[in-house]
Amino acid sequence: MKKNIGKALALYPTPVVVIGAMVNERPNWVLVAHVGIVSHDSVLVSLAKPHYTNEGIRENGRLSINLVNANMLDKADYVGSVSGHKVDKSDVFAYTMSKTGVPMIDEARLTITGKVVDIYSYQNFDNFIIQIEETFVDEAALNEEGKIDYTKVAPVLFDFPNYEYLSLGGVLGQCLSFKDKRKSDS
Ligand SMILES: Cc1cc2nc3c(=O)[nH]c(=O)nc-3n(C[C@H](O)[C@H](O)[C@H](O)COP(=O)(O)O)c2cc1C
Repeated sequence: MKKNIGKALALYPTPVVVIGAMVNERPNWVLVAHVGIVSHDSVLVSLAKPHYTNEGIRENGRLSINLVNANMLDKADYVGSVSGHKVDKSDVFAYTMSKTGVPMIDEARLTITGKVVDIYSYQNFDNFIIQIEETFVDEAALNEEGKIDYTKVAPVLFDFPNYEYLSLGGVLGQCLSFKDKRKSDS
C-alpha cells in the first residue's frame, strides 16, 4: 500500500551537472540538478533567479553542461555551495574554451554546449531553453559503434529529498520498441 506524502517534489534521481558560463569575462561554475529534455535537440536548465551565473548566460546567450562523475564530485559540490557573487570560482576546474566561447570542464566525460533560444520565467526561476550545439565525449566512454556508453560516463545522480548523490546502476534490459523500429526503418 502506498502512502500519500503530499505535494513532494519527488521526481528524482536526476543527473547532476555543472553549468559553465562566462560571467563578467571569467568562467563561473554552478551545480544544477534541475535539468530536463524538452525536444530532440533542446534541453532545459532551471536556475534560481538570484544566482550569479544567470547574468552571464543572459548576456552571452551560451553555456556548457558538464555531467558530473565521482572523480569531480567534491569540486562540483563546492561550486553548488558558494556563489560567484561572493567567491571567484573560475579556477575550480581546469577547462577548455569552446569555439562558441563557453568554458568546458576537462575532467567531465561528457560536455554539451548550447545556445539560449528561450527563457521561461516561472516563480523564482529562470528556465533556460538550450539548443544543443556540440557534444564532447571522452573517447574511452564511446563504444565500438561510436555511441555514448553511459556505464563508462558514470554520471552522478542527485536525490534532493535525502540530499544524497547516487551512482548509476547497471543495464537492466534492451529497449526493444526502439531497437525494432530502427531495424524496420533501415
Ligand atoms: C546538489 C545540488 C543541486 C543544485 N541544483 C540546483 C538547481 O537545479 N537549480 C538552482 O538554481 N540551483 C541549484 N543548486 C544551488 C546552486 O548550485 C548554488 O546556489 C550556487 O552557489 C549558485 O552559484 P552562482 O551564484 O555562482 O550561480 C544546487 C546545489 C546543489 C548542492
